[in-house]
Amino acid sequence: MKMKNAVNIDDLRRLARRRLPRVVFDYLDGGAEDELTLRANRRAFDDLTLRPRLLGGGRVDLSTEIFGQSYSAPFLIGPTGLSGIYWPEGDLHLAGAAAEAGIGFALSTGSNASMETIARRIDAPRWFQLYPWGGPEFSEALVERAAAAGYSALILTLDSLVGGKRERDLRHGFSHEIRMSAPVVLDGLMHPRWLASVWFGRHRPRFENLIPFLGDAASDRDLAEFTRSQRNPHFSWEDVRRIRGLWPGPLLIKGVMCAEDAIRARAEGADGIVVSNHGGRQLDGAPASLSVLPEIVAALDEGATVLLDGGIRRGSDIVKALALGAQGVLLGRAPLYGLAAGGREGVARALAILADEMQRTMILTGCDAPRHLGRDHLALRTDPPPT
Ligand SMILES: Cc1cc2nc3c(=O)[nH]c(=O)nc-3n(C[C@H](O)[C@H](O)[C@H](O)COP(=O)(O)O)c2cc1C
Repeated sequence: MKMKNAVNIDDLRRLARRRLPRVVFDYLDGGAEDELTLRANRRAFDDLTLRPRLLGGGRVDLSTEIFGQSYSAPFLIGPTGLSGIYWPEGDLHLAGAAAEAGIGFALSTGSNASMETIARRIDAPRWFQLYPWGGPEFSEALVERAAAAGYSALILTLDSLVGGKRERDLRHGFSHEIRMSAPVVLDGLMHPRWLASVWFGRHRPRFENLIPFLGDAASDRDLAEFTRSQRNPHFSWEDVRRIRGLWPGPLLIKGVMCAEDAIRARAEGADGIVVSNHGGRQLDGAPASLSVLPEIVAALDEGATVLLDGGIRRGSDIVKALALGAQGVLLGRAPLYGLAAGGREGVARALAILADEMQRTMILTGCDAPRHLGRDHLALRTDPPPT
């Protein structure tokens, strides 16, 4: 199959699998331990059915406002680290394709392009994602740089005090960097396009955001080691309060999976939350993010921004998340499959597929705008129809 013939995200996933060595594909695709949560995320969408209303969706407008900024659709590219291992300058292609599609983009702490490079090369609204790593000086430095580089919102990801036990990665000996063992080298040789462009290419992926901490001479290995050493299991709500005080713009807490934490995040000054289990990559056994969305929406005040991620592979998934009360969703693996399959064109293809599917679903469901989606557009299998 060629990229232009990919009709859905699963096709892009298949192409990605073909182009990438196994160690890289498994990092992208895998989850923690038994991958129960990874599968649950998808199942929750499959188990939720739509309740179509005839006509009424003829003039669909997907545009959405988040934190006062207008976007062409209610989905954005969420933060993912190490995107340069799929395609040279992966982060730039993700940010560039998002800008061209008029949707939002969030850059990870663990990106392979620095936040300043993205700001210089892509002229579009952008958010920065911060990990709960290091001491106060670590977050302070990154937050200051993000503000100076014009990032408009900060996502603080709190579900990662330690890394999830990703067994596919453990088997490949992969931990923030590719270690060359005999099976990995052989696999690399079977994927010559990847090997030539990524491994032997001009843009060997490094954690560019972290270079100021170590100096420009830092190797990719030094940076990976630094990343591992910065995990801080003692990060606390006091740190959240401190970061709130540092960051002038909207703050989102990512990784919220219950009403209590959503309320706490608001009490600490967050403007919103991302309901997320990190795409099943952290706590295996956590519920599907979609399944906890209703309790969280019900617990929060009207002024809170609620976004969701985890398992979004179809436009109809986005419709379902919005009908359950999210204002928007973050895409994790979907654009990455596109990136791995075909660089910027592949990311653009993933975004176009989701926008097209969402548009059709809205029309067929009989709803003309994301803000008009509600529980009456869903038929929960166990729910009696609303009276
Ligand atoms: C390869 C990969 C890397 C990720 N890196 C980060 C990251 O650096 N920061 C973060 O907050 N979340 C990260 N995530 C989690 C995503 O932001 C998002 O929560 C998750 O992928 C959503 O699930 P989905 O992939 O099923 O859409 C990563 C996810 C993947 C798949």
